[in-house]
Amino acid sequence: MDKFLVRGGKPLHGKIEIGGAKNSALPCLAATLLTSETVILHNVPYVKDLITQRRLLEDLGATALTPELRTHKVTARHIERFEAPYELVKTMRASVLALGPLLARFGQAKVSLPGGCAIGTRPIDLHLKAFEELGATVSLEAGNVVARAPEGGLVGAEVDFEKVTVTGTENVMMAASLARGKTIVRNAACEPEIEDLADLLNKMGARIRGAGTPTIEIAGVEHLGSAEHTIIPDRIETGTFIVAAAITGGEIEIKNCRPDHLSAVIEKLREAGVVIEELNPSTLHVKVASDGLAAADVTTEPHPLFPTDMQAQYMALMTQARGTSVIKETIFENRFMHASELIRMGAKIDISGNTATVHGRTRLSGAPVLASDLRASASLVLAGLAADGETMIDRVYHIDRGYESIVPKLRSVGADIQRITEAAA
Ligand code: UD1
Repeated sequence: MDKFLVRGGKPLHGKIEIGGAKNSALPCLAATLLTSETVILHNVPYVKDLITQRRLLEDLGATALTPELRTHKVTARHIERFEAPYELVKTMRASVLALGPLLARFGQAKVSLPGGCAIGTRPIDLHLKAFEELGATVSLEAGNVVARAPEGGLVGAEVDFEKVTVTGTENVMMAASLARGKTIVRNAACEPEIEDLADLLNKMGARIRGAGTPTIEIAGVEHLGSAEHTIIPDRIETGTFIVAAAITGGEIEIKNCRPDHLSAVIEKLREAGVVIEELNPSTLHVKVASDGLAAADVTTEPHPLFPTDMQAQYMALMTQARGTSVIKETIFENRFMHASELIRMGAKIDISGNTATVHGRTRLSGAPVLASDLRASASLVLAGLAADGETMIDRVYHIDRGYESIVPKLRSVGADIQRITEAAA
């Protein structure tokens, strides 16, 4: 298993370019299953999860070409199977995004039920309930979710999510695009990735209004066709690099980003003493205020509030802030795995239920640590950049799922970080 070796204490300086959003590219790739025509997606980040999603499409019978590194040209004309096998689902929950498109276009879908994951149980009951509301019958057979559309296909309906779910909203939006009649989704997720998917679907011929707000209206169409679309920049990668600059006391320019997609993060980081200047609508300049970082409490909430996917990185930052900060995680029940590793590096953090209290500022010192999930890995890299001495981060396959070229990108702004490959480790 690859590891990262980080030698901390070097302020970052320079320019970083942000890649495409993993969480947008995943549903957009799944959406290619909705048509027999070719869909071209640009700015797809080169990360493990996207390679897995593409393997799933190919496994189903789609052809996928890569005319350029970050461009995928997918034609799902001859789909031979309607099934996402356990081998793929267990490595990436987002394979459940195949359910909606397969069910809508072919009237059937079978997806292995995702098990628990490091950050909680993460059920998909709300996705399934929404499909049932569109007329599907759903059953559990040998660990697989088997969904079948009624004779004549899915039928538009009112779907009122009892809890905000990002991939659930995406799944129902894709399914309802090919349903007969109109679907209204209430309490829909408002993440920018939802809007991006709706943009792609509308280019393919769907009739979706209101994506990005809690109420989405989808007028079903008979047929979806070819489209070309560029994935939005990754707001979590952007936030992670803002924290990287701040935690090292550096100064960097972040290019190709969408600051308007992470307003709550920027606002919170400003409150904590990070000076973030918008040079233009796609470029940020980041440095720390002359009086340093100060503790600021945060609670994770669905978009447009502070995202759970930035909680771990924010916790690493708070170890370097003056004062005590309270971090509440309301989205996932077990998302503080990074805290125990940060404590091993010298952080003072108390955990009680879904609340972490971080007592800053503590001097961090390098230690061998274990990455437990994607964003937890990022927080350990950030802590390592701020720590004295060497931090060896194990199980970095988690970070490879969602951060493209994080080592070269950090090195390009002066970080001392290297990948130790399995053979050499
Ligand atoms: C997506 C993101 C993930 C992010 C999360 C929350 C992708 C590929 N992943 O995950 O990075 O951390 O949103 O912003 O976009 N829930 C249920 N039943 C369901 C569905 C969800 O109880 O059927 C619960 C979950 O357990 C969780 C909460 O709802 O507590 C939100 O989950 P959800 O928004 O669905 O997360 P994902 O879409 O899996």
